[in-house]
Amino acid sequence: PSLAAFLAEMPKIELHVHVEGTLEPETIFALAKRNGVALPYADVEALRAAYAFTDLQSFLDVYYAGAGVLLTADDFHDMVFAYLERAHADRVVRAEIFFDPQTHTARGVAMATVIGGLTAGCAAARAALGIESVLILCFLRHLDEDDALATLEAALPHREKFVGVGLDSSEVGHPPEKFARVFARAQALGLRLVAHAGEEGPPAYVTSALDVLGAERIDHGVRSLEDPVLTARLAAGRVALTVCPLSNLKLRVVDTLADHPLGRMLDAGLAATINSDDPAYFGGYVGQNWLETFEALGLDRDAAIRLSKNAIDAAFVDAAGRAALH
Ligand code: ADE
Ligand code: ZN
Repeated sequence: PSLAAFLAEMPKIELHVHVEGTLEPETIFALAKRNGVALPYADVEALRAAYAFTDLQSFLDVYYAGAGVLLTADDFHDMVFAYLERAHADRVVRAEIFFDPQTHTARGVAMATVIGGLTAGCAAARAALGIESVLILCFLRHLDEDDALATLEAALPHREKFVGVGLDSSEVGHPPEKFARVFARAQALGLRLVAHAGEEGPPAYVTSALDVLGAERIDHGVRSLEDPVLTARLAAGRVALTVCPLSNLKLRVVDTLADHPLGRMLDAGLAATINSDDPAYFGGYVGQNWLETFEALGLDRDAAIRLSKNAIDAAFVDAAGRAALH
């Protein structure tokens, strides 16, 4: 088969997707109507027109506004189910899905509503489609650590419904160090640890995500190559980097996909993977990320196999689960 067909048919694992970033504009308007929520956009076209991002913050402002339509457990169920249907169509067999509870609890939505709805949606997709998924609770780094600590405590009655914690939102000015205590608490609870670092922030944030937070995977990490010591360390430790090429393009981390560092990351021996981040906002789900990146960088089947193996090794599964994925 052609490379495009090979990529399309290849079983995939998605390790970096924010469920709130899978809300399509039509769904945002449908939920706004269903819930009686006013939106700062006149219609779907006006909302789509706002998707001309200049950096991470310009995206986050729209993304948090969009998430404001989510109120009921059904909303969370339907959102994650719709994502898993699309992922399944892209041959995703396992997804490890981020959610941002503070975006919802700050509006008065109960933690049980958020986690209960998402868990039910994941279960429904597992039953209907056979797609496996787990949830990772992310702390918003633009808020303070006490808010993150309170969020973790509020989630503990649902401890068995998520496998780990992450760190997302506005990166520059909010270094990993700010969240040392909440990550230590999560680690003590047996949760898996990941953090966004080196997306817009410097390589030093990747280093402190590893050293101060104990992050097991780095989300993005594309700026790591600027630091040769860090690059050597990531390569030697086979630390997984969950790279999101179309996100980096839309948020202007790179000027063109042809400039994307993914090929250089693989050449440097980094355990990179391909993911979609916020596919409803960035112009493509994970299959589209694979296809466009391979075309722009001239990557081959060998690279596809390496990227896939990296994702299998990085997935939060036990030894038997990993053997089944290989
Ligand atoms: N939240 C959703 N997408 C994000 C990204 N790409 N970086 C940081 N926070 C996010
Ligand atoms: Zn992300």
